Amino acid sequence: MRTRYNAGITALGGYVPDHILTNHALEEMVDTNSEWIVSRTGIKERHIAIDKNIATSDLAVIAVERLLANAGLDKAAVECVIVATSTPDYIMVSTASVVCEKAGLTNAWGVDSNAACSGFLYALTLGASLIESGRYTNVIVIGADKNSAIINYEDRNTCILFGDGAGAVLLEQTTEDFGLIDNVFRTDGSGKEQLIVQAGGSKNPSSMETVTNKQNYISQNGRVVFKAAIEGMTQTCKEVFRRNDLVADDINWLVPHQANLRIIQSVGDILDIPIERVKINIDRYGNTTAATIPLCLWDYKDDFKVGDKVMLTAFGAGFSWGASYLVWGKLRGQ
Ligand code: COA
Repeated sequence: MRTRYNAGITALGGYVPDHILTNHALEEMVDTNSEWIVSRTGIKERHIAIDKNIATSDLAVIAVERLLANAGLDKAAVECVIVATSTPDYIMVSTASVVCEKAGLTNAWGVDSNAACSGFLYALTLGASLIESGRYTNVIVIGADKNSAIINYEDRNTCILFGDGAGAVLLEQTTEDFGLIDNVFRTDGSGKEQLIVQAGGSKNPSSMETVTNKQNYISQNGRVVFKAAIEGMTQTCKEVFRRNDLVADDINWLVPHQANLRIIQSVGDILDIPIERVKINIDRYGNTTAATIPLCLWDYKDDFKVGDKVMLTAFGAGFSWGASYLVWGKLRGQ
């Protein structure tokens, strides 16, 4: 009989730039106030790369270096790198190529995956599938975004929400009963106008006109996204519960995409998972797009115990959304 392989997370790394953009600093930039931001979003500060030479790959490389140091893993053992990002270094040349080069991962092939805030979840499944196929044993999955590159710091609807950061996980092959178990994912392109960077791609290449019209920045209809996020995340979590005979009490930790504290609280409430079992770091980082979930796993890695049942869920531009269920395994070095 063919051996069944699982893909387990065995090491983590994370990084946010040093510079902190506080709510009070934003008060100087747009018509807003810290109390509004905290009460409507839960965000107190976010980190951004103020050095213009820092690209998304640089954030990712530091996360990878931290992961490798934690893992005690030889760089040559890494076979594949998947970078989830919607702020790639370049339109052409994948950020994964740059990361592999800068991090010295010379035996790995790399590819980017763009599904905005759902990017890390989707990339995690792609990486896990490579391992479950039996053809790969070590895959690094990264969520990294330099959102400050596509934020209009004159638009109070968006500039208060986003930060920069990167998180990385090592997926390793195992025949034990832990790792990524199941996911339910959805995409619906009819939501694309609600949260989008209009220009810079093949549909609307960058020009003097797009720059003047600020179409190279994120624009969004916050209220529509807010409702769709709660609906999408809870529905897919419930579907994963149903498919795996799970009830809320079975779940040790819910690790949701960090877009808005009120979205996170609503998802926890609807799923009946008490807030003590919901991982939250939005207060410190804001929405780091593809990096939120791996940064949360990195921040709280000491809380996760072998055998813990963990639900990950995300919603983002596209629209794209979904939920993944995993059983926590042993980290390298534990
Ligand atoms: N500071 C102060 N007031 C602000 C503001 C800001 N930064 N941004 C908006 N407002 C104002 C609005 O203009 C509006 O005023 P009005 O009633 O006079 O028109 C009022 O606050 C309420 O606006 P509304 O858009 O209803 O606020 P909200 O409670 O929905 O919060 C978001 C706005 C953007 C925080 C919220 O909709 C959200 O988080 N949406 C999801 C965004 C998201 O997650 N995006 C990433 C994808 S996952």
